[in-house]
Amino acid sequence: MLIEHRIKIQAPYVGAYVISDQDIQAAAVLLGVGETVAFPTETVYGLGADASNPFAVRKIFEIKGRPVDHPLIVHIAAASQLPAWAQCISDAAWQLATVFWPGPLTLILQRSGLVPSEVTGGQDTVGLRVPDHPVASALLRMFGGGIAAPSANRFGQVSPTTAQHVRDKLGSRVGMVLDGGPCRIGVESTIVSFAHGEPVLLRPGGLAIEAIEDTLNQKVILAQPAAWKVRASGMLDSHYAPETPVEIHPVCALWVRAHQLVKLGYNVVVLTISNMGIRHVDCDGITSFQMPRLANEYARELYATLHRLDRAGFDRILAETPPATQEWVAISDRMRRASQDTSKVSP
Ligand code: TXA
Ligand code: MG
Repeated sequence: MLIEHRIKIQAPYVGAYVISDQDIQAAAVLLGVGETVAFPTETVYGLGADASNPFAVRKIFEIKGRPVDHPLIVHIAAASQLPAWAQCISDAAWQLATVFWPGPLTLILQRSGLVPSEVTGGQDTVGLRVPDHPVASALLRMFGGGIAAPSANRFGQVSPTTAQHVRDKLGSRVGMVLDGGPCRIGVESTIVSFAHGEPVLLRPGGLAIEAIEDTLNQKVILAQPAAWKVRASGMLDSHYAPETPVEIHPVCALWVRAHQLVKLGYNVVVLTISNMGIRHVDCDGITSFQMPRLANEYARELYATLHRLDRAGFDRILAETPPATQEWVAISDRMRRASQDTSKVSP
């Protein structure tokens, strides 16, 4: 039966996506000859190239417009491949890899000799992760090596959570785009660094920090922004930003600000979480849009919503401040960075 030779992805909220063995084979061949392939992961779509080929890796930086000193994550098929790419792996790092891979966790470790300095931006550490997506897993197994892949967007912009986002933004510059449907998690992986021994959180993401702390039975130190800023582009103050300026306000100030901007002639969209907003309804010239109230559902929709609002041509996105609880940490982080480019937000 044909279907047995295919990867079928059931995404209950959008239907089914089918990718054939031939698609995976073609993608693996392209990677082998130094081309780029965009592929789905459970977090966001990645722009992949052969991690052991410096020429291929340079293409990623060119396509993304990313500064060459910002390191890439190397995706591998299984934790058993870790020793090929990293060295001095602590027991704690092994524990996290064993418990959470495949999954939305990236570990920063001392790099092995196999990792070209193009991948690490010249640093002596490397980011590694095993993605939890059938298409990514099949591609990694078929290719056999590591795939260096940042999120498949232009540097600083919103990450893609569908193949169409990748095509819209990167288009023909990518060798091939594998369409595995919308990403299940919707925000990037949680990054934990073991570069200096003790675990340090560099980026909150798809895996809850408490789950990591419970597993290690210790607190994970939060990175000092000044120390890490240069090394991790996702930690830059302005990042994950749509074209349309974003402002974040508590719900009490949200509508006051919206009316103020509308009076000045701005075309405003309000993103609410609480039930004070009504989906897709215009009132007083303000379009409001109610986002999901559960953090995991909000995360899944966040980037797709920002992409959509960018296309809709609003002058300003006003978003309700997310709750200050642990499950919203990654969303709050992304919203804050999306709203950081203050040069865009006047008056
Ligand atoms: O979920 C994800 O992590 C997605 C999917 C495609 O796997 N990837 C992703 O890659 O978000 P990227 O490049 O957009 O973000 C990875 C972050 C960057 O901020 C990068 O600077 C940081 O990881 N990073 C990678 N290697 C590092 C290293 N050796 N030391 C410190 N930070 C590192
Ligand atoms: Mg990125």
